[in-house]
Amino acid sequence: MHTDDNDGISSFLDRRLRLCAQMGEGVAVIATAPERLRNRDAHYPFRFDSYFHYLTGFGEPDAVLVLVAGENPRSLLFCRDKDMEREIWDGFRFGPEAARQHFALDEAYSISALDQKLPALLENQRRLFYMAGDSDAWDARVMGWLRTVRARSRSGVRAPATLEDLRGLVDEMRLVKDAGELATMGRAGVISAAAHRRAMTVARPGMHEYEVEAELLHEFRSRGAQAPAYTSIVAGGANACVLHYVSNDAVLEDGSLLLIDAGCELDGYAADITRTFPVNGRFSPAQRDIYALVLAAQHAALAQVRPGNPWEAPHDAAVHVLAQGFIDLGLCQGTVEGVIESGDYRRFYMHRTGHWLGRDVHDCGEYRVDGHWRPLADGMVLTVEPGCYVRPGEGVPEAFWNIGVRIEDDVVVRAGGCDVLTAGVPTAMDDIEALMDR
Ligand code: GLY
Ligand code: MN
Ligand code: MN
Repeated sequence: MHTDDNDGISSFLDRRLRLCAQMGEGVAVIATAPERLRNRDAHYPFRFDSYFHYLTGFGEPDAVLVLVAGENPRSLLFCRDKDMEREIWDGFRFGPEAARQHFALDEAYSISALDQKLPALLENQRRLFYMAGDSDAWDARVMGWLRTVRARSRSGVRAPATLEDLRGLVDEMRLVKDAGELATMGRAGVISAAAHRRAMTVARPGMHEYEVEAELLHEFRSRGAQAPAYTSIVAGGANACVLHYVSNDAVLEDGSLLLIDAGCELDGYAADITRTFPVNGRFSPAQRDIYALVLAAQHAALAQVRPGNPWEAPHDAAVHVLAQGFIDLGLCQGTVEGVIESGDYRRFYMHRTGHWLGRDVHDCGEYRVDGHWRPLADGMVLTVEPGCYVRPGEGVPEAFWNIGVRIEDDVVVRAGGCDVLTAGVPTAMDDIEALMDR
């Protein structure tokens, strides 16, 4: 994928300049993701590295961004050469000169010049920033460049004395989304919500889970999303109690629920939605009990998403509502405080209520800062996704066995509260039943 939209290029330049300002001095090296062989000559679909793309908008493989911070910050790109023979087989590539112009870079070179040029760029720089530990191959390559610079010490050249993890700086930038990012995430939310609506309208007893998955994929691709942001979970009946169920090959049974956790990736940004609905279009009384509880927990959590509230506030609110509900339904015994204190609620709710969302479905950004849960701030994007999963077991009321419900939306923290990006697919039981009726 390459970025055709030259209007957006200034935001990438702006990010690089902001990052250089935070580095102060030194050199940063950020490589994109490698192409991966699937089997023989077939590759996995290429997906650029999220950090690299956040700073460049450049979507080709075999590319490295080098930032030189200082009074006159510079951005250098190393990328594939133009190659008319390869382009006949694999399609367009920018080549360094066109990439330099299109992506507002200061300099661009052939990727084949990387090992020759990097040592010179590191000479007499005090700090080197890179993503240490991501790949043994890159770690070894970076150490090789440092050795080359050190070998020149007799000619008065110094190698960087400090290696710093670049993630610390870029994660903070990526955590707060700008207007362009929010617009893209809004579109990803709209497309993903449409896919869930489509699934609700086509699902019926006797279908296979994969047939419903196909409907999701159809909606993602036909509306321009490049891919699912993660493997879709299409889990009928008891499969909903397997949190990362991805086989999606079972038959949907009459009277069971279908849990779908699926979202698209659009222009590098993820959506992440879960809905749970009855395969036959009508919730049973026991399904209503569990569903109503999870929805109440989600409403309580959403009410806690606002600037200044700690990261943990939505989770605490959801757990409180769920613990009370588990007692009311006979799933847990004792007091709410006791059920929370002992962790007994985790038999039915064993995951957290959300995560940062952005370029990665589990996006970067620290959840705790200086020993405290991070305060939410305007422009942060997170999921709110309480659930309840009841496996058969002694002392567990049989009416609830094998019911698994999760309700997940994507929200932007905004002054006074939050905006829901994924409101295009209903959560209320009446609305879901009405949609499935059509
Ligand atoms: N779909 C992954 C998650 O909900 O975290
Ligand atoms: Mn999620
Ligand atoms: Mn999800």
